Amino acid sequence: MLSKSLEKALNEQVSIEGHASFAYLAMASWCEQQGMNGAAKFFFAQSDEERTHMLKIFNYINSVKGHALAPAIKQPSLKFKGIVEMVKEALHNEEKVTASVYKLSEMAQNEKDYGTYNFMQFYVDEQREEEVLFNHILERIELIGTEGMGRYYIDKELEALTGGGAPAAE
Ligand code: FEO
Repeated sequence: MLSKSLEKALNEQVSIEGHASFAYLAMASWCEQQGMNGAAKFFFAQSDEERTHMLKIFNYINSVKGHALAPAIKQPSLKFKGIVEMVKEALHNEEKVTASVYKLSEMAQNEKDYGTYNFMQFYVDEQREEEVLFNHILERIELIGTEGMGRYYIDKELEALTGGGAPAAE
């Protein structure tokens, strides 16, 4: 049986994952505005992934007899100074998600709700992967640079990370 405090925290995580999905949607749209359709493809895929994260928690709450609540979605940032600033914001957002995942995991452990604790370990692993990914992207952007053809190669690089694009030129 899910405690009221864990039910509330899990519903907050539903909202956080939903917000992450919408933040990536806004990033995908911004990329399309810049003609960076490969990067847009990457952020659309990220948005879809966050939606699946949201639904996984949503379904979990109801499966353990809690009440999953559809969240209010706050409008995310819509404009960015440039691709570097946007990726930095994505990394910063992911770090905030990691902090809430750790908090939830700790709460479940303190309440000796090992079912929920175990469920949360998927998110612990996921967040580690996401932070590694965005740090990697920032390093690649730094290497490529944003001058001249830089934005073109960054676009290709991000498209390749969705698994659908041509490998980026070195
Ligand atoms: Fe599912 Fe990256 O937050």
